[in-house]
Amino acid sequence: MTTFLKAGIAAVVLAAGAPVALAAGDGPEIKKSSWNFGGIFGHFDEAQLQRGFLVYKEVCASCHGLKRVNFRNLVQKGGPMFPEESVKELAASWPNKVFDGPNDNGDIADRKGNIIKRPAKLSDPILGPYDNDQQARAAQNGALPPDLSLIARSRNVEYKGTVAYHPLSMARDIATGYQEGGADYIKALMTGYADQPPAYARNKAGQLVEVADKDVKDEKAVERCASISRGDAGAPDVCNKLQDGQYYNKYFPGGQIAMPSPLASPVAYQPNSGATSSIEQNAQDVAAFLSWTADPTLSERKSLGLGVLLYMLVTCVLLYIAKKRTWRAAH
Ligand code: HEC
Repeated sequence: MTTFLKAGIAAVVLAAGAPVALAAGDGPEIKKSSWNFGGIFGHFDEAQLQRGFLVYKEVCASCHGLKRVNFRNLVQKGGPMFPEESVKELAASWPNKVFDGPNDNGDIADRKGNIIKRPAKLSDPILGPYDNDQQARAAQNGALPPDLSLIARSRNVEYKGTVAYHPLSMARDIATGYQEGGADYIKALMTGYADQPPAYARNKAGQLVEVADKDVKDEKAVERCASISRGDAGAPDVCNKLQDGQYYNKYFPGGQIAMPSPLASPVAYQPNSGATSSIEQNAQDVAAFLSWTADPTLSERKSLGLGVLLYMLVTCVLLYIAKKRTWRAAH
């Protein structure tokens, strides 16, 4: 493919993405939470990962898989570290079974036409309810619930401040080793739902101006928009209405998402789980858990990194002393 053609395609793709990007840019800024796995000393908190897994199991697993995580990973160091016996039982009772064909006759389905499956073992991946993306879309109104194994790595928070501050904010992120954008986004997404999109009134210039819900006297006088596309060069703004089968979420690009609010009511925690259950806490814990699935060796890597730094520091001192001794006679 010529470079020219590639550039052309890139331009078309960019142009097609522009309205969405604009709408996303209009969304509110995502607040950065404090994560115990953040920064250079950060480590995953076992209890939090256990609670996060509980939220995943109770709520998210009915639509999303975690196919890059095996049940045995839930036992390993640096993760939730559940006891092996309980994970064995969990795997065996996991509702989403593992494909087990073809059988001795070469069949992949049994006589009734059902795909041959068996209960999961420790070495099997944590599967979602659908056999493939087509089946998932058919069940979810055309939308695809993505596999969540790596979602925390593939999402981030977008900078929404002024241009002048941007380099400063980037420098701060580098200095603090900020890498928790995915977790911050997931937490925000879980808590960003509202019953209906915000109300807007149109001014004389055709621009849409947000009206606080308490000031809406007459629903007919306002428009409810999931997002706004600003009109270019004096053209009136366009109100992007909430579409059928979509839910308003202020943090999702475009303001509407096909996923109904997963944490409409909180998942209850055991009294000894280390935190009290609330929607906010559920969101924080499941975001931490998904950060672990996306980067399971984080704790180990950070400890090793610190160890290596310490080792080099000691070596440095020793080498300096050795150099002084060796060259003392020559000076
Ligand atoms: C009823 C099914 C359902 C449940 C339950 C559910 N989701 Fe989803 N989820 C979806 C669908 C469908 C999408 C795709 C949405 C879209 O593209 O508009 C999605 C998308 C997502 C995304 C990707 C958003 C993005 O930026 O693209 C994340 C993250 C997510 N879900 C997390 C979760 C978590 C965490 C839970 C559990 C607390 C959960 N979901 C429970 C159906 C579900």
